[in-house]
Parts: sequence; C-alpha cells; structure tokens
Amino acid sequence: MDHFSIVLALSRAALQNPNSAIENHLRRLVKALEKNGQTDQAEALEKLLRTTGKSVEIQPSRVVLSFAAMGGELLTPSVKAPVDRETSAPLAEIIFPDSARTATPIFTNELSNSVESLLEEWRNVDKLKKAGIKPALSLMTFGAPGTGKTLLAHHIAKLLGYPLVVARLDGLVSSFLGTTARNISNLFSFANRYKCILLLDEFDAIAKLRDDPNELGELKRVVNTLLQCLDSRSEIGFTIAITNHESLLDPAVWRRFDARIEVPKPHWNARAKILENNFLGHTPLSDVQLGFLTWISNGYSGSDIEKLSDFIIRRQAIQGSKFDFLESIKIHIQLSAHDTESINREMAIGRQEDLALALNADEELAMPQEKLAELFGKTQSTISRWLKKEKSQGGGRNGK
Ligand SMILES: Nc1ncnc2c1ncn2[C@@H]1O[C@H](COP(=O)(O)OP(=O)(O)OP(=O)(O)O)[C@@H](O)[C@H]1O
Ligand SMILES: [Mg+2]
Repeated sequence: MDHFSIVLALSRAALQNPNSAIENHLRRLVKALEKNGQTDQAEALEKLLRTTGKSVEIQPSRVVLSFAAMGGELLTPSVKAPVDRETSAPLAEIIFPDSARTATPIFTNELSNSVESLLEEWRNVDKLKKAGIKPALSLMTFGAPGTGKTLLAHHIAKLLGYPLVVARLDGLVSSFLGTTARNISNLFSFANRYKCILLLDEFDAIAKLRDDPNELGELKRVVNTLLQCLDSRSEIGFTIAITNHESLLDPAVWRRFDARIEVPKPHWNARAKILENNFLGHTPLSDVQLGFLTWISNGYSGSDIEKLSDFIIRRQAIQGSKFDFLESIKIHIQLSAHDTESINREMAIGRQEDLALALNADEELAMPQEKLAELFGKTQSTISRWLKKEKSQGGGRNGK
C-alpha cells in the first residue's frame, strides 16, 4: 500500500480519541491488507489497535488519580499554548512561577486575611477532597484599574508554585461566527489537562460583545459555552478571573465563582507600606516626606503610587543635592493631570500656608510644627506664624 506511513500516523492520531467506528474501519483495512499479502503493514496496524485498547483502559484511572491529587499533567516550557484555528493567534500565554511578577501586593489587613484564607484552602485541596468536601477553586477579583488585581494573581501562582495560563483575549475573541465559543472551549480543555491556574484577565471583554446588537446571538453562544466550561472546570483546577467592570458581566457567570474579592484603592496604612517598598534600594525619604506622600496619594491606586514614586526616584537621580521634594511633587501633579483629582493634590499646588494648616489639621497625619518646619525648610516660628494666621482667618481646608 502506498504512503502507508502516513496512513499509520493518521490511524494513530485518530485512535487518540478512539471510537468503535474508527476501530471497525481499521480492522477492515487490516483484513484488506492481509488479503493483498501485505502482511507487514497489516501487522503494524493490528499492533496499533491492540495497544490502543490498553491505553483506553489505563487512561481513566490515571486521570482520576491525578485529579484527586489536584493534578493533571505537568506543564513544561515545551508545551505550546493552544491557538485560534483560523488565525493561529495564541489563545493563552503561559507564565511559569519563576517568571511571574515578584512584588507582593499590599492590601488592607482584612483583604490580606481573606486572600490568606483562600490560599489555605487551595493548599489543602487534597485534604478537602479526601474528606468529601468540595473546595472553592474559583476566584473572581474586581476593582478599579491599577489596584493590584493582576499582581495578586501572579502572587498566588508564585506562592502555590503553579504556572499561570493567561487567556489572551485578542486571540480568543474572533470575528468568525462561532469561533469565539470554540476558542473558549479549547482554552478550558487545555487548562483542564494541565496542573495550572487559569487566569481570565480583563474578563469583561467577553461580556462587552453585548454592546453590539448584531452580536447578540454570538454573545449567547459565548456565554453559554463559558458557563459550561466554568462548570466543568469547577472541580478540576484553579481559576482566577479579573474585571474592572463587574456590572458588565452576566449574573450567571458571576455566580459561577466560589470566592469574589473586591480590591479597593489602598487606605492610609497600605499606601504608606507601598511607598516604603517603592523606595527600597533608592535614596531614602525621611519619615516626614513619606508621611506627606501618603497624604497626597489619597485616592491613588497602587499603580498611581508607583508612578509617583518612580518620578521622584528619577528626579533624585538627576538632581542629586539640588533635589527639591515639594517642588517635585508639584511638577508630578501637573504632569499627571488625568489621574485622580483630590483636595490634597489641589492643596499641594496651592499656597504653602493653606497646605501647612491642612497637614497639621489632618486626623491621620496631624503633622506637628517641627515636622512642618522640616518639610517646608522653614523655621518653627515661621510655621507657627502661618498656622496662627490661617486659623484666625478660618483658612485652610482639611484635605483627606
Ligand atoms: N496593592 C498593591 N500593592 C503593591 N503594588 C501595587 C498594588 N496595586 C498596584 N500596584 C503596582 O501597580 C502595578 C499595576 O498593578 P496591576 O497590574 O496588578 O493592577 P490591576 O488591578 O491589574 O490593573 P488593571 O485593572 O488596569 O489591569 C503593579 O505592578 C504594582 O507595581
Ligand atoms: Mg490587570
């Protein structure tokens, strides 16, 4: 028989998912080859059919075992991410724990405790399963941009030592009818096969299909597929979804997640800690300067704070001994005009006397006169005069 090696390869591929029809046709082919006297080829096919029978028996118990141990196959760098069949665009990016982002997200104590308790569950999945208790394997995080949601997912993956399979929405969402649903299904099959955390970042992009009235049929198909995929994954592996627009998500999708965490903008203590971390390894700031930055960054996201810190670090490096702290903050505020507007930011670029009174009167900061003198580079008596004058005029606003 011509091209027998190709026929054999095709048969092997077809027998990866064996069914009786394929096996019957192959047996017919074996008989036909024997009849033609091509015994070598007939034997090779026979052998293939025999070994397939065995692997079908072995597979289920292997799969059941690995799932019980919260497993699946090991995801190694040689494994390629699945691709869109039409465009060949990858449906996911695989990030291994050693290349995940290393920073630790800083949250309020309450949020950190919630994350820790979820991690405890995820570390004890085997124990829960053995006790017949269904672990909560899926997490939805939502909140304003730049608050550390993606960072949190990387952090979790790193702590658990799992690779992240990060859905690539540009690859998943296709303009071809029905293809988006097929891509989603392929992505989940891939994630279900391996030991990994499936990360659905910017998850609302799928829900946004709803904005286009021509896409309603497609959206229904996509959401239905997503629901089925989330259901089937719910006992297999870890899933983290992230969105900035939780209201855009279909309520049925929303309900599928065992844990839901809102990541807020950082409060005072978290801002102070993020700032402290950002300046590690750089020219240190004084406590007074750090306190002022914590105050000024009220309403900032972690990402805004990072930009502010980076700006100061660059100015320090360029200006050296001529570095002017307050002037640098003013410039940064002017340069970041589209970021969060707040009274504190307004005051920082206004009159020094107003600013001094606000810093002094602020409940959390309550900056005393000697520290104000250090911040503004003035004598304590000048500060005292400013405060008295402002108080007598009822000036200054207590910015928060
Ligand atoms: N809570 C935080 N603790 C420490 N750093 C933070 C925090 N939030 C943000 N950052 C800093 O800001 C950067 C951006 O954060 P990240 O990408 O995780 O935000 P996000 O919530 O995913 O934003 P988006 O919704 O825009 O995708 C991080 O790399 C980190 O440096
Ligand atoms: Mg993000």
